[in-house]
Amino acid sequence: MDKIIIHGGKKLRGDVFISGAKNAALPIMVSSLLAPGWHNFHNVPNLVDIRTIKRLLRSLGVKCEGDSPVRVNSDDINNCEASYDLVKTMRASILVLGPLVARMGIARVSLPGGCAIGARPVNLHIKALKDMGAEVELRDGYIEAKASKLKGTTIYFDISTVTGTENIMMAACLAEGTSLLKNAAKEPEVINLAVTLNSMGARITGMGTDVIRIDGVDRLHPAEATVIPDRIEAGTYMIAAGITGGDINVMGCNHSHLDALILKLRNSGMKITPFEGGLRAVGARRIKSIDIETLPYPGFPTDLQAQIMAMMTLGGGSSVITETVFENRFMHVNELMRMGADIVIKGNTAVVKGVPRLQGAQVMATDLRASASLILAGLVAEGRTELSRVYHIDRGYQGIEKKFAALGADIKRVAV
Ligand code: EPZ
Repeated sequence: MDKIIIHGGKKLRGDVFISGAKNAALPIMVSSLLAPGWHNFHNVPNLVDIRTIKRLLRSLGVKCEGDSPVRVNSDDINNCEASYDLVKTMRASILVLGPLVARMGIARVSLPGGCAIGARPVNLHIKALKDMGAEVELRDGYIEAKASKLKGTTIYFDISTVTGTENIMMAACLAEGTSLLKNAAKEPEVINLAVTLNSMGARITGMGTDVIRIDGVDRLHPAEATVIPDRIEAGTYMIAAGITGGDINVMGCNHSHLDALILKLRNSGMKITPFEGGLRAVGARRIKSIDIETLPYPGFPTDLQAQIMAMMTLGGGSSVITETVFENRFMHVNELMRMGADIVIKGNTAVVKGVPRLQGAQVMATDLRASASLILAGLVAEGRTELSRVYHIDRGYQGIEKKFAALGADIKRVAV
């Protein structure tokens, strides 16, 4: 189990290059299940979760070659079961459910179960498949679904769900007739998947709006697709400039995916200057406390809540941070308080009272984005911070300690 050691206090400066988006690459890799032949996917990040989805696809009989571009071939699907062992390590495995039912007529996928940030039910995925005519049973902790041919229909998602939208959008591509997904997720990753599916011959319109229309087709063909830049990774480095008072060029990000964060960081006193191919983030001398409420896209991303909270621990006043997407996404709060932060939680709201400084400490990562939050705090804290359980961070950030070291941070990974 590795640890990350940081000696804080350095203002970060320089260029950081953003990798492909984990949450776009995962559904795009899974979409290969819908069409036989060799798919080519570019700008796939080198992450633990990508290695996990490759393992899952290979367990179904899918060939996966290379890292980026990765070549994927689903000619010989010989297993329609996603086992508990694989699904429990990565909830996004649920994404194989819709494509397997659509392509093979059958799927047996372990229920993902909860995780650190919440119960994370998949009831909306299941309900939508049933609405499309699938027979779905829950047995022995597995979802068992079958359908000779899914039927296009109108699906209403009670809650905007990213992977729910992606799962059903993929299934609907091979359904008979037209499907309308209402209250669909509008995240850029959903759009990246829809564009990839259309390059396979699917007929999808309305992606990025509340209503996505899919006209089912009989078959799809292999695609050449490119994963969009990771807006959450980009946002994390922008916040790193803010918390350390640094000056970072975030290269390769798509700043139109970051409007909510840019607005909030500007309100906190930062200077954010978009340019062709990226943006420059300059920290302010004094961080102004701002209020944040997480919302589905294009609202403020829940995946950046822990990171901006770390920055607000040093704000000039009090910041009220409300988490509306997940019910337990304050696991980083106790660890930040061990570094001297002043935070009071009331239900799904955290009141963050700015303190003059943080102290380095031994802290423990609990989930992917909480890990990033603790690294950001360590970068500015006085003294030494030691972060354990860094396997969480490796799921979603490619070479984070190397990228921060290249920006001037005193950070290293040690094997223990
Ligand atoms: C995706 O998770 C992302 N993961 C998450 O990123 C992200 O935090 C989340 O969307 C919200 O933006 C991937 O894309 C692989 P949801 P997902 O379904 O799809 C409830 C990260 O750090 N819900 O949009 O699982 C759910 O409990 C990860 O990269 C149901 O009630 O999230 C939550 O409260 C963490 N029933 C809300 O909807 C369902 O059937 C939004 O969840 C589905 C969801």
